[in-house]
Amino acid sequence: MSNRANGRSRVSIGVSTGLVFVLAGGLALCGARSARAAVHTRKEISHLTSTEIANYRKGVALMQSRAFNDPTSWIYQANMHGYPTNSAICPVVGTPQPQWSTCQHGSFFFLAWHRMYLYYFERILQAAVRQAIHNPTYVFSLPFWNYEDPAHRQLPAPFRSPADSTNPLWVKQRTTNCNNGSTCISSADASDTVAMGLIPFCSCSGGSCTGCQTGISSDQSFGGGFISAPNHSASVPGELELQPHGVVHNAVGGPVGWMSYFTCAARDPIFWLHHANIDRLWQVWLNKLGGRKNPISNTTWAKQTFTFFDETKHAVTLTGCQIVNMATQLNYQYEGVPVTNVQLCTTGTVAREAALAAPKALAAAAAETRLGSASVSVKVAMSTTVGAHIQALARKPPKPGHLWLAVEGIKVLHPGAVYHVYLNLPAGQKPDPAGPYFLGTIAPFMDEEHGAELTRTFDLSSKVKAMGKGEMQLTFVRERLDAAKAGAAAAAPAGEPDTFLSFSKVTLLER
Ligand code: C2O
Repeated sequence: MSNRANGRSRVSIGVSTGLVFVLAGGLALCGARSARAAVHTRKEISHLTSTEIANYRKGVALMQSRAFNDPTSWIYQANMHGYPTNSAICPVVGTPQPQWSTCQHGSFFFLAWHRMYLYYFERILQAAVRQAIHNPTYVFSLPFWNYEDPAHRQLPAPFRSPADSTNPLWVKQRTTNCNNGSTCISSADASDTVAMGLIPFCSCSGGSCTGCQTGISSDQSFGGGFISAPNHSASVPGELELQPHGVVHNAVGGPVGWMSYFTCAARDPIFWLHHANIDRLWQVWLNKLGGRKNPISNTTWAKQTFTFFDETKHAVTLTGCQIVNMATQLNYQYEGVPVTNVQLCTTGTVAREAALAAPKALAAAAAETRLGSASVSVKVAMSTTVGAHIQALARKPPKPGHLWLAVEGIKVLHPGAVYHVYLNLPAGQKPDPAGPYFLGTIAPFMDEEHGAELTRTFDLSSKVKAMGKGEMQLTFVRERLDAAKAGAAAAAPAGEPDTFLSFSKVTLLER
């Protein structure tokens, strides 16, 4: 076979006798099964050979040499994610073109849209590699970056070395740690444990809830909240989109790097490896079974079409239904990840989830709080009754999802910061994300211009003993891997904004 993924325009030819057809173009099709292009494998970046890296670089360089209005150029593809109209972070290039700034964030479209985006990007890059190395049958597979593996917490070497413009995979607009080969992603930030433990794909607070769960916060779903129509920057992100996805964006980009901004992120070549990993984690999640399923019966999710460009510069569309099975529908898979537990729209159904009762608020602190570089603490007082109830719960810790804290009204004032949240961190205790007081991370990758307000929840079911009975104290600590002495006393480096996030309320909830 000379050509893999020919996508939906592929001609299926059924042959029952094993005869070999030789087509005009010299393409031999040996029976119906092999008429389907072979499934290729996306590998972890460290498993690529030096020849594969060299070829990859040549393809990227060729895309980078193309004009802004060529849909197969690097800049056109990046601007489809987000287009800066006035940015001090990355330069404005060209004038607006079809499908620029169409990425889907903060909703249940997030995973599907980015899978489609990567699929066509990979086809364009494969065509570019083939052209650059004069090999029309070369199979290129987009690598992924598995930062959750402790061996891969550094930015992959080909992306930082050589650190100059001879390397098309290098950009200088990243945090110092990422570009100098120190720890780029901390283990707390790389973790997908919370996301993998969630069963519902989507949450729903009104509208079409088929296949989605009512009565939960969007980050208590894996893939995000139902919305009725595409939205570049909605406010109901799922857990995977927040962590590790958003956290990794902010960790690589920091306050002034490209990866922290919708409008610049996809210009950084590492963006595509980060998203291949997120796309891989979607299948890893499905493989865990336990009721995990895509919302194929939610017609909004399943039928909404999104437009991209293929390697011949033609506009193409895909729907959720057309991308649920990466192997059979898109001809790729990930190294080490079998494609299981995938239902197709044509053969499966996913029913409406039973509604959950609304959670009960046990305590709350209205607290207009701004987060900068210094640590900030917020106290949530509990009534005597609630305190006694918590003490009783502590004797027999509840199931996950029973009790949680919600930080509400979160606004991104300036992108690129990562905050760690601690519960009842004793005075003088060094904040340690591996220690017992750590609750989780707030680091949304959101468009600051849209001003969407988010809710971030932290499950407390395994932390009841640490809650005390009178008041709880939450401490927000900015993680600064780049700073020599990050932590409570560290001041903002010159040139950094003094506020990154704000939130309006903290609530203790129970179901
Ligand atoms: Cu559309 Cu990681 O972003």
